[in-house]
Amino acid sequence: MSQQFQHDVLVIGSGAAGLSLALTLPSHLRIAVLSKGDLANGSTFWAQGGVAAVLDDTDTVQSHVEDTLNAGGGLCNEDAVRFTVEHSREAIQWLIDQGVPFTRDEHAGNDDGGFEFHLTREGGHSHRRIIHAADATGAAIFKTLLDQARQRPNIELLEQRVAVDLITEKRLGLEGERCLGAYVLNRASGEVDTYGARFTILASGGAAKVYLYTSNPDGACGDGIAMAWRSGCRVANLEFNQFHPTCLYHPLAKSFLITEALRGEGAHLKLPNGERFMQRFDPRAELAPRDIVARAIDHEMKRLGIDCVYLDISHKPEAFIKTHFPTVYERCLAFNIDITKGPIPVVPAAHYTCGGVMVDRHGRTDVPGLYAIGETSFTGLHGANRMASNSLLECFVYARSAAEDILGQLPHIPVPAALPRWDASQVTDSDEDVIIAHNWDELRRFMWDYVGIVRTTKRLQRAQHRVRMLLDEIDEFYSNYKVSRDLIELRNLAQVAELMIRSAMERKESRGLHYTLDYPEMLPEARDTILVPTTYGG
Ligand code: FAD
Ligand code: SIN
Repeated sequence: MSQQFQHDVLVIGSGAAGLSLALTLPSHLRIAVLSKGDLANGSTFWAQGGVAAVLDDTDTVQSHVEDTLNAGGGLCNEDAVRFTVEHSREAIQWLIDQGVPFTRDEHAGNDDGGFEFHLTREGGHSHRRIIHAADATGAAIFKTLLDQARQRPNIELLEQRVAVDLITEKRLGLEGERCLGAYVLNRASGEVDTYGARFTILASGGAAKVYLYTSNPDGACGDGIAMAWRSGCRVANLEFNQFHPTCLYHPLAKSFLITEALRGEGAHLKLPNGERFMQRFDPRAELAPRDIVARAIDHEMKRLGIDCVYLDISHKPEAFIKTHFPTVYERCLAFNIDITKGPIPVVPAAHYTCGGVMVDRHGRTDVPGLYAIGETSFTGLHGANRMASNSLLECFVYARSAAEDILGQLPHIPVPAALPRWDASQVTDSDEDVIIAHNWDELRRFMWDYVGIVRTTKRLQRAQHRVRMLLDEIDEFYSNYKVSRDLIELRNLAQVAELMIRSAMERKESRGLHYTLDYPEMLPEARDTILVPTTYGG
């Protein structure tokens, strides 16, 4: 039998964004934080490089803003960039206060303007401004925030709960447009429960799993983007899928990232013959923004017909490598690659969803009562290409801003009345799960082949034709069979893929991460690609 729950705030996602928001809200509020797997299953846990922020006295807000605007290919919203960067220092201070064990600078007071933590460098940044916990920053942040959340009796941390769809007044045929909560599959009971809430937050991460090769964990299926779209929210700039230039290339290594901080600390990209090549593509060489580096690698791999290129940091002292990059060192060694002695085979892989659910400065979506924060959202910060380590920063700044907004609205928003239960009377158990598995593979392969680093109109048309057929098939399956995590994710992935392809087809230019052979030039005017659902506004 399905169950009904009531909370003040329902947070869908237990990553950097969701946990930060829950911890920022006061302890008299009843908050549920959902994760569709275990609590660590989002991208946050895997983040390596760090968090970008203006922290040392030789750096300035203006410089961070300018670097972000440059990396973003003329498409960033300057207000959003400034807002984020201006709040970067206080966001980091909040993390330090929570107890995140950032790496300390052994030379503090000398080179780094007196700041006590070590700052590293990554592509596109003109200063050392990435605060980190060695090369496992995400794990350090996640564990700290989770420990804090566990000490707060008002925060319920619920694992293996998969949000299926949002409950809006419109969906229920009521007057008004407010979001009232969500239907959530409890994977243990197999039932879809009803979660009513005064405020609902999508903090459900990105959608890089739409591609065959990705740095992301399995759950990055764009669930939040798809749910928001179905509920009447606009989405923007979904054609900008970021490919990280350097993921480990090894048949047994699934999705392992080699952090950009290696290049920040002097690693070189090389061809199989040992020749460096990045200086042929950009004067900043290995420290050019990611879109340029990924495209250069793709170009060299296709030109030479090779399976990978190489990233080499072995010219640095062994002790330095082991201290700064212990995670990368250990992981590579497990595959018999000693990074202190030789180069690492690497390839680009889908990494980050720059577009998402359109929000304002407080994370408010088009549907009242519904917020989106973190990778699910589109704030305007990243433009056509996210600069390294600005993503976690965005999670913290917007989580805190959304919490502030919720607090201001709280007195005016009542607890929703009892909501109708999920209707499972028309569906049966699936006897053909092979269809789900097949469609997963097909979708991710054609997205990789047709909507990848270099695009053409013909390939996009082909992808669009295929995704529409898949959507029809999935819809039919969804109407007839009981929901499972795989089916929910496939339905969302296909929906987000369709939005990505549609956005890519609307952009008749090459800009940042969207590069098409049919329109290789950048248009003089930079415009966001905004898609409006037929049910716009709830
Ligand atoms: P996530 O951390 O992805 O969390 C998503 C949460 O939503 C999970 O708890 C998941 O279970 C839950 N969820 C999703 N769908 C549902 C559903 N339907 N129902 C219930 N729960 C759901 N960025 C940086 O700034 N610096 C870095 O160094 C960096 N390194 C990275 C390294 C790797 C390998 C990867 C993959 C990303 C990296 N990024 C980095 C990007 C950054 O980590 C992510 O953008 C960020 O962590 C996203 O946080 P989030 O809270 O938005 O989502
Ligand atoms: C990395 O460590 O290279 C990832 C940084 C990021 O995605 O911002």
